[in-house]
Amino acid sequence: MTKHFLRALNGETLSRPPFWLMRQAGRYLPEYRALRSGTKNFLDFCYTPDLAVEVTLQPLRRYGMDAAILFSDILVIPDALGQKVDFRVGEGPALEPIRNTADLARLSIDGLHEHLAPVYETVKRLSNEIPKETALIGFAGSPWTVATYMVEGHGSKDYAACRTWAYSDPDGFGQLIDLLVEATSSYLIAQVDHGAEVVQLFDTWAGVLSPSQFEKWVLEPTAKIVKNIKAVHPDVPVIGFPRGVGLMYRTFVEWTGVDGVSLDHSVPTSWVADHLQPLCTVQGNLDNMALIAGGERMEVEMQRILQNLTGGPFIFNLGHGILPQTPPEHVQRLVEIIHEWPNS
Ligand code: CP3
Repeated sequence: MTKHFLRALNGETLSRPPFWLMRQAGRYLPEYRALRSGTKNFLDFCYTPDLAVEVTLQPLRRYGMDAAILFSDILVIPDALGQKVDFRVGEGPALEPIRNTADLARLSIDGLHEHLAPVYETVKRLSNEIPKETALIGFAGSPWTVATYMVEGHGSKDYAACRTWAYSDPDGFGQLIDLLVEATSSYLIAQVDHGAEVVQLFDTWAGVLSPSQFEKWVLEPTAKIVKNIKAVHPDVPVIGFPRGVGLMYRTFVEWTGVDGVSLDHSVPTSWVADHLQPLCTVQGNLDNMALIAGGERMEVEMQRILQNLTGGPFIFNLGHGILPQTPPEHVQRLVEIIHEWPNS
């Protein structure tokens, strides 16, 4: 029997849609916070297979999602390339910025797989430990989104340094993107080699680019990564998440060759049914704030999504990651509504 989640990604329309939630392992769960409090450094936590396996399984035990997502972070790539990454409590990530071609000399792909070996070990163990009906998702950040953190040195509202470098010195900035395409392709291929059945590329900051820059720094690199993965693993589905790109979602699907696309909460589901679902499987797109609010408004939002998207290949998810202040009982209600569908 093929797993429910993989059937949807393979283009099947299912009467009960499969579901998982972006960032489903994490701080909204008391059992995550309890385990996390034992390790100071977040990346050390990610690089410890015993811990990473356990926190990947925690949400499955409570909610029985159709897919497990490897517990790690998108910033393990800069870390593996030699740019030190620090996570500061309450502040998010901190990196020593890469701002020009001279700074690129600090990076090297040579130690990539050795550095990421604990992540591969986690994937291998998970593929043996997750329930047999559950699919295992591997992931990475997309080159553009990872580059924003590498160039700014931290999260940002407008990504000014990164966007300016991309315009003023496209060849230099392009070298960073090329390096990330190579590292990300080979990282995702290795995750599949170790047991990941699907991979997702998170492009959280795709929506800050102008159309010309979107083409150069999102569409072209993503298409190359999809091609590189498919050259080795032709049957492994790839999901893209170009968050916030509005009507460019369709261009993204047409250009990149992804098998599935994850929708942020701003995309109208009626438009999706007409313009995206004929091309690929869609995933999304409940507003993560509606999940925090819970109650009737959340149910109304969910019903609209389910009504509009269950007529084609569809995976229920959020429009962005689950937030730490989310009440676990609201997640429980979300699961019930999906299980009751279409009679809810
Ligand atoms: O989905 C999952 O459950 C798997 C784990 C996962 C994490 N990060 C764990 C994490 C995944 C898929 C990510 C992706 C990620 N990381 C993205 C793309 C998706 C998105 O949400 O936009 C981005 C942009 C990052 C970078 C990142 N990691 C930031 C900006 C931060 C700090 C802000 C925050 O959310 O805390 C992190 C830290 C992080 N990554 C935590 C977790 C559980 C919290 C750290 C902790 O527990 O101390």
